[in-house]
Amino acid sequence: MTLGPYRLPNRLFVAPMAGVTDRPFRVLCKKLGAGYAVSEMVTSRKDLWNSLKTSRRANHEGEPAPISVQIAGTDALMMAEAAAYNIDRGAQIIDINMGCPAKKVCNKWAGSALMQDEPLALEIIEAVVAACAPRGVPVTLKMRTGWCQAEKNAVRLARAAEQAGVAMVTVHGRTREQGYTGHAEYDTIAAVKAALRIPVVANGDISSPHKARDVLAATGADALMIGRAAQGRPWIFAEIAHFLETGELLPAPRIADAKRWLIEHLHDHYTLYGELTGMRSARKHIGWAVRALPGGEEFRRHMNTLDSCEDQVRTLGDWLDALAQDHDRLPYLAQAANDEPDGVSPDNNDNSAHEERRLTA
Ligand SMILES: Cc1cc2nc3c(=O)[nH]c(=O)nc-3n(C[C@H](O)[C@H](O)[C@H](O)COP(=O)(O)O)c2cc1C
Repeated sequence: MTLGPYRLPNRLFVAPMAGVTDRPFRVLCKKLGAGYAVSEMVTSRKDLWNSLKTSRRANHEGEPAPISVQIAGTDALMMAEAAAYNIDRGAQIIDINMGCPAKKVCNKWAGSALMQDEPLALEIIEAVVAACAPRGVPVTLKMRTGWCQAEKNAVRLARAAEQAGVAMVTVHGRTREQGYTGHAEYDTIAAVKAALRIPVVANGDISSPHKARDVLAATGADALMIGRAAQGRPWIFAEIAHFLETGELLPAPRIADAKRWLIEHLHDHYTLYGELTGMRSARKHIGWAVRALPGGEEFRRHMNTLDSCEDQVRTLGDWLDALAQDHDRLPYLAQAANDEPDGVSPDNNDNSAHEERRLTA
């Protein structure tokens, strides 16, 4: 699959997740089989660009190309300026956030709330494309199926975006009103795919290789985007890729490999955030990685009492070594098994949605 001048290694994408898909996590997912990753959203508010949070989000050091940066805002000129600012800092693709219940920017709701105001949404899309096109930078759009059940306008907005020059559209199969409740539906994504010539990416509740196959079949999408199911399980991309290619399920990763990947990720994470913030924000990644393993919940609670990076790394390593005495591969518990078609239901991920609200509020 190609996106502008970029040829992507496969059609399995990491979803942008604020507070999660920072550069270290994107690098980890790309190393373990993701073909493409979109950064956490960067605000269009200029006064925040020099903040530590935004400058960390604009850090792409060592990330394999293409570098895709998501921008969020409610004003066309500010969004165009944000696109240019991020291109100057290494962005090769600009993604417009109309997909997540993002926070207010300048007293207006950004993200998926823009789907309620199609003229403004289109004004933003046109301004961002106008800023990016002369620099050869493709613009992509991430949206939901609509504002609410009665107003599913994804097809209309996606068509208008395509006409305005957008290179790819991702649709999360929920309305804005739904938040993360209920289940993603794929009929609207299929309708968007049928209406467009540019690539369409299906997103929402893809949590296993079987589900990935079913969503591809149901939507005819060109690619799949995976968010929550990659938390603590970044190897899911390799698992899905293998299943789509061969029809066979990969076994769970060897514990020794998982240990190496997770600890490398922790070191990369600490380097980006520094000792104190890094130690605290790494807790969620460790918690996700162990949650489906025997004794994982107890370990997570213990790990949350540690207060240095060194202790975190050593304790996680020791815990995995102890597990490896009885198992060669990660022994997932039945309810989060490697390939249960509905193994990670949205309801099981309320914490993530909660976290997004906390992180973006
Ligand atoms: C913690 C968290 C943060 C998120 N942050 C963003 C974001 O910054 N931009 C965005 O477009 N979507 C964001 N999303 C939505 C995801 O990209 C994705 O559309 C959604 O989680 C559905 O996919 P999934 O079922 O595979 O998780 C976030 C989701 C979560 C759980």
